[in-house]
This record gives sequence, structure tokens and C-alpha cells, in this order.
Amino acid sequence: MRKADYSSIASYYDKGRLLSEQNIDLWLGLVVKLSRMSEGARMLDLGCGTGRFSIPMVSRLRFRVTGADSSREMLEKAREKDTTGLVQWDKMDAQQLTYPEDSFDGVFMSHLLHHVDDPRQVLGECQRVLTSPGVILIRYGAIEQIRDDVEHTFFPEVLDIDEARTPTVKTVEGWLIEAGFQDIVSQEIVQQTFETSTEHLNMAKAKGNSVLSMISPEAFEKGIRTLTQYIENNPDDPWLLHDKIELTVGYKRNKLRVS
Ligand SMILES: C[S@@+](CC[C@H](N)C(=O)[O-])C[C@H]1O[C@@H](n2cnc3c(N)ncnc32)[C@H](O)[C@@H]1O
Repeated sequence: MRKADYSSIASYYDKGRLLSEQNIDLWLGLVVKLSRMSEGARMLDLGCGTGRFSIPMVSRLRFRVTGADSSREMLEKAREKDTTGLVQWDKMDAQQLTYPEDSFDGVFMSHLLHHVDDPRQVLGECQRVLTSPGVILIRYGAIEQIRDDVEHTFFPEVLDIDEARTPTVKTVEGWLIEAGFQDIVSQEIVQQTFETSTEHLNMAKAKGNSVLSMISPEAFEKGIRTLTQYIENNPDDPWLLHDKIELTVGYKRNKLRVS
């Protein structure tokens, strides 16, 4: 599987991956509603990157948060941003967690599974380190959602890469069932990511979506040219402002006790 190099992406990741206050509220609201976790609960943000979600989970929800990621550079950025000083940042492969059983009440992951060689192994590890009852929340772009988005329309090479590595919603749900999770529910969330179409263009130019760093310079430049032209002709097209993002949630239930 081709992989994005987060050691170089780390320096510009946050500039390209805009997450407004409104969208932080949107996602944290969903986390609270679906996890029923409250202040003091132990949350693992797996593949936490620069801590876009880990830090507000501490500062706004008062969770006890561990952010784990395999990239030293992404974790460095996260540490720099973490003015709470309360997140535990761990360099770790999501496929081989070193935490003992029952370490967390919840696991959250955002845009992680398409980056790993063995997503089933990751979900098995999540099941192991969760207590019961526990919850897993997976935020991702399923292939059926991202196929028609702006990046995949204007940068066709991106589509080839993502068709090969991005799961469908049913696939993710199947992996969760295999890992032993129950009561799995998925919902599509439409997020307004950009205020203006120019903001989206600037994000693309900054390669905010890591897959844009994986295509040839020629394909990238061509995509930027056609996207610029499209925006000049259709500056108010709402398609340019929104992302469809899936949230799939599963639960680890208490084991039945037979007396
Ligand atoms: C698209 S970024 C998402 C970061 C963050 N969750 C967010 O939404 O901003 C993917 C992250 O997954 C991390 N990653 C990739 N493979 C990993 C693995 N095997 N174990 C842990 N983290 C991994 C990368 O280093 C990167 O920080």
C-alpha cells in the first residue's frame, strides 16, 4: 500500500486541515452523545496526528486523553499546541498497542484506518485495550463518500490511490463485528469545512489532504489549474464548501456473568 509521509506533512498539516470551532463543537457533541462519556473518562485518540481532536477533548470535555500516533513529527506538533499539558502523547503503532487491557473507556480515531496495513488488527487492539462497557468511534471518509468530492474530481490520480485503500461503510462495520463490537451504527455527517471556495483552493495548494502529496507534480499542477478555473466560474457552488464524513460507532459490552 502506498503511504503518505507524515514526517514531512507534519509541518503544514494544520494549515491544510481546517477544523473550525463550529466543527469541533459538532464532533465533540457527537462523541459525548454516542459515548455517554463524561469528565474524567479515559479516551484514546488513535492516530491523533497534531492533536486536532485530542486537545479539545481535554480542554472542553475534561476527558483524560492519550494521543497515540506513529509519527514523531506529528506528535511534536501536537505537543507544541497542547497548552493544557494534560494530554499524554505516545509514539505507537496502532496495530501493536502497548497498553494493557481495560486501559480506556473510549477509543476515537479520525482518518486513520486507510493508512494502516492491517485495519482488522487495529480494531482488535482497540477491543483489547477498552474496558467494558466501552465505545469506539471511527471518523472517516468512506470510499462511497469521497469518490465525488472536490479532490477526487480534480485530481484523478488521487482516486486511483484511494480506491485501493479506502473502505466502504459496510467494510468498516464488518471489521468491527469481527473484532467483537456490538450495536454498530453508522451515520453520514455533512461538515461545512470551508467558508469560501478560495479557502478550499488554498487548502488544496497546501496539500492539506495528505493524498495530494502522493501524486505526481504534473498531476497536482493540472488539478490545481482545473480547480482554479472551476472556482472562477462557480465561486458560490456549495459543493466546494462541504465534506461528507462517516462516523461509525461500536460498543464493547459487559461480559455475561454465569453463576
Ligand atoms: C490523516 S492523519 C489524521 C490525524 C488526526 N487523527 C486528525 O484527524 O487530524 C493520519 C494520522 O495517522 C497516523 N498513522 C498512520 N499510520 C499509523 C499507525 N500504523 N499507527 C499510528 N498512527 C498512524 C499518521 O502519522 C497521521 O498522523
